[in-house]
Amino acid sequence: MRVLVTGGAGYIGSHTLVELLGQAHEVCVLDNYDNSSPVVLDRVRKLTNGTVTAVEGDVRHDNTLRDVMTTFQPDAVIHFAGLKAVGDSMTNPLGYYDVNVNGTLALLRAMDEVGCKRIIFSSSATVYGEPVYLPYDEAHPLNPTSVYGRTKMMAEHILADWAQASGGTAVLLRYFNPVGAHASATLGEDPADVPNNLMPFIAQVAVGKRPYLNVFGDDYDTPDGTGLRDYIHVVDLARAHVAALDYAADHSGARAFNIGTGQPYSVQQMVAAFRTASGQPIPVVVASRRAGDIAAMQADSSRALSEMGWRATHTLDDMAASTWAWQSGNPNGFQSEEG
Ligand SMILES: NC(=O)c1ccc[n+]([C@@H]2O[C@H](COP(=O)([O-])OP(=O)(O)OC[C@H]3O[C@@H](n4cnc5c(N)ncnc54)[C@H](O)[C@@H]3O)[C@@H](O)[C@H]2O)c1
Repeated sequence: MRVLVTGGAGYIGSHTLVELLGQAHEVCVLDNYDNSSPVVLDRVRKLTNGTVTAVEGDVRHDNTLRDVMTTFQPDAVIHFAGLKAVGDSMTNPLGYYDVNVNGTLALLRAMDEVGCKRIIFSSSATVYGEPVYLPYDEAHPLNPTSVYGRTKMMAEHILADWAQASGGTAVLLRYFNPVGAHASATLGEDPADVPNNLMPFIAQVAVGKRPYLNVFGDDYDTPDGTGLRDYIHVVDLARAHVAALDYAADHSGARAFNIGTGQPYSVQQMVAAFRTASGQPIPVVVASRRAGDIAAMQADSSRALSEMGWRATHTLDDMAASTWAWQSGNPNGFQSEEG
């Protein structure tokens, strides 16, 4: 298929490009490099020996989208482009609604103009909010507690209405907590600022960039008192997009899928795995709980297995070892190659 990948230079997008090229799909990336760099795409080209057409532009700009759509004529779109920091979304709600909601609207309008009927959307487990029951399945009520989560829920609703009206297909992938890096250690997560997520933070402590890890709360009702999350290796997540493209080829309408492992790990377990992978001490300081954090969450991903034939195969050790290989081999991320 010819696949337009918005946000393809980002963390999950770049790993997905590798999997798409590995399956002989043709790709075109649209990215404004707001949180990434063209260097990432050079790494993908080197790694795959594949062709990656890239357009620098904003997913909210109708003219840019029209040009890309008419030139590339995609069979499907994978829509990663968006803003993703929960904390920032609370202080910059309009910015988040603009990129995540208006960006999705503009993209769908442009798809309509060229008759492109398939889209895979980067949604998030944050759409569920406070668990009514666990594991979350796709029928769990949607009640996001952050602006970020609400932007994802609104985009899901828009996509479902579009699919209904147009006869198109929208696959809504609700990611749990993406971690890890490509086995080559040439691609990985490269946060521009202080990492928002646990794994890159641990990695930066291990490599000596930060003195210690704050653990926010060790008195939760969990086996070791620290929060439990469902971590998903980014390569497994990337492969879920390839499975979703296949699914979209012979289904219509909107369908949501949880993308997790169903096996949650605590903060302490993540730190222990990373100590083993890196051989580094990783000092930890226990701090008070953060407002809005929940004790535990995990996915029921059985629908993704039964309907798309997808399941996660990477282990916790794979997550820690690949993150360490990436971080220690690229202590400054992609920066050293930027102009
Ligand atoms: N990483 C996570 O923890 C996580 C979890 C659930 C969902 N998601 C979603 O998955 C998607 C990808 O996440 P990621 O971790 O790869 O993030 P990322 O920031 O690494 O990638 C996003 C990409 O989109 C680009 N972008 C941002 N705004 C844009 C715009 N207006 N026009 C064009 N390009 C734009 C960025 O430059 C970047 O390359 C996002 O939509 C995110 O909300 C991420």
